[in-house]
Amino acid sequence: MKCCFSTFIKNESKNKSNGSSSVPESRNQSKSQGDSDSTQTSKSFSSSRTIPELYKEKQQNLRVFSLEELKDATNGFNRTLKIGEGGFGCVYKGKIRPLDGQSGPLVVAIKRLNTQGLQGHKEWLAEVQFLGVVDHPNLVKLLGYCSADGERGIQRLLVYEFMTNRSLEDHLFSKTSTLPWNTRLEIMLGAAQGLAYLHEGLEVKVIYRDFKSSNVLLDESFRPKLSDFGLAREGPTGDRTHVSTAVVGTYGYAAPEYVDTGHLTIQSDVWTFGVVLYEIITGRRTVERNRPTSEQKLLEWVKHFPPDSKRFSMIIDPRLRNDYCFSAAQNVGKLAQSCLKKNAKERPTMSQVVESLKQAVQESQEGSNETKKSAVKSSSRTGSRRSN
Ligand SMILES: Nc1ncnc2c1ncn2[C@@H]1O[C@H](COP(=O)(O)OP(=O)(O)OP(=O)(O)O)[C@@H](O)[C@H]1O
Ligand SMILES: [Mg+2]
Repeated sequence: MKCCFSTFIKNESKNKSNGSSSVPESRNQSKSQGDSDSTQTSKSFSSSRTIPELYKEKQQNLRVFSLEELKDATNGFNRTLKIGEGGFGCVYKGKIRPLDGQSGPLVVAIKRLNTQGLQGHKEWLAEVQFLGVVDHPNLVKLLGYCSADGERGIQRLLVYEFMTNRSLEDHLFSKTSTLPWNTRLEIMLGAAQGLAYLHEGLEVKVIYRDFKSSNVLLDESFRPKLSDFGLAREGPTGDRTHVSTAVVGTYGYAAPEYVDTGHLTIQSDVWTFGVVLYEIITGRRTVERNRPTSEQKLLEWVKHFPPDSKRFSMIIDPRLRNDYCFSAAQNVGKLAQSCLKKNAKERPTMSQVVESLKQAVQESQEGSNETKKSAVKSSSRTGSRRSN
């Protein structure tokens, strides 16, 4: 669950609770007085268009649902169809009628804003506008939204493509199953490609700000897609190096300079990516209160096991049962450390991270092929012995 390090979100959702638009208005209009954010990507600094401007061009791609349609889709938001719950509200599995009216019902995930919650309209609006603009195989697809205000207060919902295998968090920390090493790497590679697209592949730079294992959703083939753009921000333009904003995010993931100063940069996302790299290496959450004190904070604990030492093997997820390529794991550990450099400028760009992960995937796959080959050889030797 997200938490805000200041009262920013709380103020925001209160301010928005009596908003009554039926379509997402411009983000700048939606700013509340309590918002100290200075992310306006002013035209005087750059000729690139802003997210609200880009959104205007693409908004017709999103379907506008009525509350009735989404009630029908979820059997009245039936508890048995609830698949998750986060800071925004509950997520339901539902079925909607496709627009062509001919094919069968479409399975979707429907997120309903909890109006009692701390996060609110602004996040909903950011999600609609960012996801309405972006288009990448590693970013979740928003199919549409619902915005209705009635006697029962405001209703804000989001309708996404359904991701069969839920989130990376659900698998990584599961007590019943283990995610194989190669799958972990491929998921991180896809997630890195999604982040690189946000940072470098659009007309505007987008800082995602909420990278964490629960926001990496997995499709039927375990291909990753980033979800939750409620905290996303347009990056600095022109000569600016950062955007100043109230500090929000999830405890244990946010970059130290951002927590200390509120200065948000593209490199803050890179730090957070490094945290998740250590999660996939160790199979541990960023904070685990039930561990001995010295092991509770993942980043503090792993410092004692540098990737270029033999001790590194001691922190690798025991659930992998040694079924991983050690040298690739060491390289992923080194990559994590470079993402976690105190000096943000020394961190790699996300496209450099993508390249490093491609190499680690290749190294791991070659490692598994070698293991398979030697297993086949030894079993054929055993077989010939048997036949003798
Ligand atoms: N499109 C989707 N398809 C399938 N499952 C989804 C989808 N979106 C969300 N979920 C499920 O719902 C859960 C809750 O998601 P949600 O984003 O609301 O909360 P969170 O990520 O756990 O916390 P936070 O509010 O901090 O982001 C996810 O972990 C995932 O299991
Ligand atoms: Mg989430």
